[in-house]
Amino acid sequence: MTTAPLTPKQRDRILRAATSAPSKHNTQPWWFRWDGDRLEVHVDPDRTLPLGDPDTREAHIACGAAAFAARLGYASLGFGTAVDRLPDEDDPWFAARVRVTDAAPDPRFEALYWMLPRRRTHRAPFQETPIPPLVLEYMRDAARDEGTWLRVIEHGPTYEHLLGMIRQATDLEEEHLREERAKWVASPDAIHRHDGIPARSLGPQPETPTGTVRDLAIGRDVSGRGIAVFEARPTIAVLETRDDTPAAWVTAGQGLLRVLLTGTRYGVAASFANQPLEITELRDEVASDTKHYGTAHMVLRLGMGTDVPPTPRRPLTDVLGPSAPRSRNGAFPV
Ligand SMILES: Cc1cc2nc3c(=O)[nH]c(=O)nc-3n(C[C@H](O)[C@H](O)[C@H](O)COP(=O)(O)O)c2cc1C
Repeated sequence: MTTAPLTPKQRDRILRAATSAPSKHNTQPWWFRWDGDRLEVHVDPDRTLPLGDPDTREAHIACGAAAFAARLGYASLGFGTAVDRLPDEDDPWFAARVRVTDAAPDPRFEALYWMLPRRRTHRAPFQETPIPPLVLEYMRDAARDEGTWLRVIEHGPTYEHLLGMIRQATDLEEEHLREERAKWVASPDAIHRHDGIPARSLGPQPETPTGTVRDLAIGRDVSGRGIAVFEARPTIAVLETRDDTPAAWVTAGQGLLRVLLTGTRYGVAASFANQPLEITELRDEVASDTKHYGTAHMVLRLGMGTDVPPTPRRPLTDVLGPSAPRSRNGAFPV
């Protein structure tokens, strides 16, 4: 497509959208590069979690979400886009390239763009109002539009089994994972940082552990958190892709953000109970228990949510390449 090049202001708008994406522990494991009007999204190996995400699956999910958010930024300027996942077969850290096309943007993207600053991971109790079934349908459609699958589980034996797996995984979590997480979650230097999860975003401690509300500071004494009664049986959903490759992980991220923003439009918020996905044997079981679409990537706790505080983001000057480091110890881990 031949268009005038993006202005610096337009580029910033797109980048700001991209960096608003969710990422595990808010590590923001990405760096970006402009190639003309095309935006490259790369995994930053120095911001991955060697213990909590050894194969960098979740870092690629975050980069997929960032690519989707970038598309919304382009759409808000009137540009239609397409995403090339893993565009360089020799570079698995190069997660995605977003390029402008001749097509008009998806008409639903404009509204989703405006949801970016409103979407937040919601670790507080949900309102009692149930999620309207039609909204869950929209969220399923949103997943499907990005080539992913959202399986909503509200009750029955599958629900009980999944809840059991989440609890089991929480009990099995090893100390070294908690230590790695503590560097990013409610860390004492949070006030000076533009990444990680500050204590205010942890949500209160559950009065009775429900399993579905993940306490990211479990076993630690974080002041000022308070205690609250959480809903005992929130809606749970599992996001899946057919394959389990770096390209599929990027797809999962695109689907994840489209689902979350679609929910945000209708007052639905999410937090995540990914514990069973972090233990290989349980991860396989989550997927098989959710009717074999493929690979499970995220376990979502869903409900009608009120405002919760935002997490920080790095300044745009921090995320722009091309001089970012290329690899963790030089090699891709899969
Ligand atoms: C791949 C991935 C995995 C995540 N896992 C969890 C999790 O297990 N528990 C949780 O509470 N939040 C989880 N999150 C949410 C992040 O902590 C959250 O996106 C980040 O702190 C930024 O905050 P925000 O979503 O409010 O913008 C995950 C996010 C991503 C993208």
